[in-house]
Amino acid sequence: MQKVLIARPIFPDVVERLRQYFEVDWNTGEVLGAEALTQRLADKDGALTAGDTVSAAMLAAAPRLRVVANMAVGYNNFDMDGFNAAHVLATNTPDVLNESTADFGWALMMAAARRMAEAEHWLRGGHWQKWAYDGFLGADIHGSTLGVIGMGRIGQALARRARGFNMQVLYHNRTRVAPAIEAELNAHYVSKEALLQRADHVVLVLPYTPQNHHAIGAAELALMKPNATLTNLARGGIVDDAALADALRHKRIAAAGLDVFEGEPQLNPALLSVPNIVLTPHIASATEATRRAMANLAADNLIAALGEGPNAGRPPNPVNPQVSGRARA
Ligand code: GLV
Repeated sequence: MQKVLIARPIFPDVVERLRQYFEVDWNTGEVLGAEALTQRLADKDGALTAGDTVSAAMLAAAPRLRVVANMAVGYNNFDMDGFNAAHVLATNTPDVLNESTADFGWALMMAAARRMAEAEHWLRGGHWQKWAYDGFLGADIHGSTLGVIGMGRIGQALARRARGFNMQVLYHNRTRVAPAIEAELNAHYVSKEALLQRADHVVLVLPYTPQNHHAIGAAELALMKPNATLTNLARGGIVDDAALADALRHKRIAAAGLDVFEGEPQLNPALLSVPNIVLTPHIASATEATRRAMANLAADNLIAALGEGPNAGRPPNPVNPQVSGRARA
């Protein structure tokens, strides 16, 4: 029987599915550090990860490893040059999380615009003595301009929801989306600079790559309107968190909603000390149904890539389909 590592606690019934095909080493404890992950991968044919860093050195130390299935749409935790060089297949879990993530993006954006976290902390702190006409005045969503940076599947799901709020939609992306999608979403392609200058609510939904490290830093924040909000649903590192904390503290922008952070789960402490921010612990896809769908899709990928199950040899979501794959040990 081939051996697989499940690097994280996941739904037990998904583990049972994998046990039908493989000898499973399931880490139900703390997140594995680099050394422990290297050791646990060393004798495996496949692995299921969830944001765990997988380096070229780990692949080199695991000669049987043929596939790593990430339970996430983003896979910046994988050294893809290393995967390609070692002919190890990587897979991800796109699409099944689009709608839940877009829902959450709206929740975060609206919470930031309407100062919900700040107001709740104040209320819980026992400060509410009387109603005030000017208490927690925020920014409107309806009728305002949404700016989506990263018009992939999640960006499109997010933009689609803007119709009900009668918003103008601007977007920026590496490439323009098809005219039919622009028309359906009533979305207008603009430069990143124009978007930052014109949008009332900027939402980031682009994948992390070294090229877009700190794509939103002090210079970009300076382009935004003083009453605008910024929401990061994408990945830590796309925003310069220190620059953002500074911009919020000095009210250069009105508010921010962050679900992802540089160096998470550690946070830049400056973010914790500004009031006009909503902070959530990387939970945009976290509904029961969606996380189940992601776990099952990651398992489907692993099973198929290791030549088992009804789709043997045809994993649904290869990230680097060009790799021919390591020979089966
Ligand atoms: C979550 O961040 C994901 O990439 O799925």
